Amino acid sequence: MASTHSAEVLVASNRGPVSYEVREGGALHAKRGGGGLVSGLSAIGPHTDAVWVCAALSDADREAVRRSHGGRRLSADATGGQQVRMLDIDATVFADAYNGVANSVLWFVHHMLYQTPLEPVFDAEFRRQWASYEAYNRAFAEALAEEAAEGAAVVIQDYHLALAPRMLRQLRPDLRIGHFSHTPWAPPDYFRLLPDDIAAKLLGGILGADRAAFLTRRWADAFTDCCHAVLGPGIPSGTRIGVHGLGADADFLRKRAHEPDVAERMTALRAEIGEGRKTIVRVDRTELSKNIVRGLLAYRQLLDDRPEWRERVVHVAFAYPSRQDLAVYRDYTSQVRRVAEEINSRYGTPGWTPVVLHVKDDFARSLAAYRLADVALVNPIRDGMNLVAKEIPVVSDEGCALVLSREAGAFEELGDDALTVNPYDIGGTASALHRALTMPLDERAERTKRLAAAATALPPTQWFLDQLHALDPDQSR
Ligand code: F6P
Repeated sequence: MASTHSAEVLVASNRGPVSYEVREGGALHAKRGGGGLVSGLSAIGPHTDAVWVCAALSDADREAVRRSHGGRRLSADATGGQQVRMLDIDATVFADAYNGVANSVLWFVHHMLYQTPLEPVFDAEFRRQWASYEAYNRAFAEALAEEAAEGAAVVIQDYHLALAPRMLRQLRPDLRIGHFSHTPWAPPDYFRLLPDDIAAKLLGGILGADRAAFLTRRWADAFTDCCHAVLGPGIPSGTRIGVHGLGADADFLRKRAHEPDVAERMTALRAEIGEGRKTIVRVDRTELSKNIVRGLLAYRQLLDDRPEWRERVVHVAFAYPSRQDLAVYRDYTSQVRRVAEEINSRYGTPGWTPVVLHVKDDFARSLAAYRLADVALVNPIRDGMNLVAKEIPVVSDEGCALVLSREAGAFEELGDDALTVNPYDIGGTASALHRALTMPLDERAERTKRLAAAATALPPTQWFLDQLHALDPDQSR
């Protein structure tokens, strides 16, 4: 296929660096996103011709695409100078691919979230959605093939786009293609819940890349184990496997955490918490894998087992809405609220609210909580990395004790200085919270220093450059 553009570096991900909303009078307002990829891509500088290919996620995004020559080039003001090609994929196809397959099946498989007596069910409806997942991946592969210069480097992100590497390879054999998984990878016994042909297509899709990379060695090994179990011994295509443990962006976080809006939020939070109380902080999307409900249950057990903590501690829990198109996420969000309210009505007193729960996304307030945290609670069932575990020690004002699930990718790098928990063990988590709350301040400060150093070992810019470098033609295949 002929290339109509000439990007030397291309990124492809479902969610792009910009999203839109329609304001009164029909004006479009652009909102720039954050995260590792956005700052990572800034590392290649303005002189490299780079394009980010992403999907339109909402009606407002689709409108922005219509107003910008089919999304070929959104306004540079809106994207912070980044060249973005937003794909207006048919809304039904998108919903089937994103909600139906990516988030309801692949996410569940890799995070091992099914209640297996009744689910998953791979029926005719699933097959229909799978056809949309293929179409969605094809739309990305075709756009990338059009945009890429001869021999360009293309880094394709995540489980939404597992088929795109092989599709792109078929369209453009000249390209250097990488795939990066931001999620865990399921172990073979769990991955094989998928129908055999689907399992083989997903692995074969990623193996269309020159290199498949993961956040930790554990997830990379699980991927190769799945290849052996499903496709037979050896990685058939010669695809190289890599590990890049994305770290926190210390410079950005420390600067941002000292801006006036964060100071304002700290004052407000201190008032909610009350004078002289310790804080257990968690900040998450309201995501099934984050295990927020069991975190609340462990806190309740702490208050039961050790009444001396009543009135002396507050659990500050920020649980920001996520994937609310899916009923199971809406139900989980209600459950989080219910358990928090239950704890407050059972233990609360006129001067003490045991759980301060906020559900409205506010980055400045998250940073304020990071700065105030005595204890950070990060207890996912399973998580690709978990950047919150890395960010809190970097930002914390006086050091904080980290209670960390052994199932978070971040555990590989932070485990030595964290208090480890089995995320299903409520009693064990309650004890770890007690140990964290009673950790001597000098030990806490020492551990926080080491945690912050480990958390920032691979900043987003280097993380991204390493992946590009690994795709260089002179890197051994
Ligand atoms: O890898 C997981 C991921 O795609 C992350 O990039 C991001 O944190 C999260 O899922 C967001 O999910 P969504 O785009 O569905 O809100």
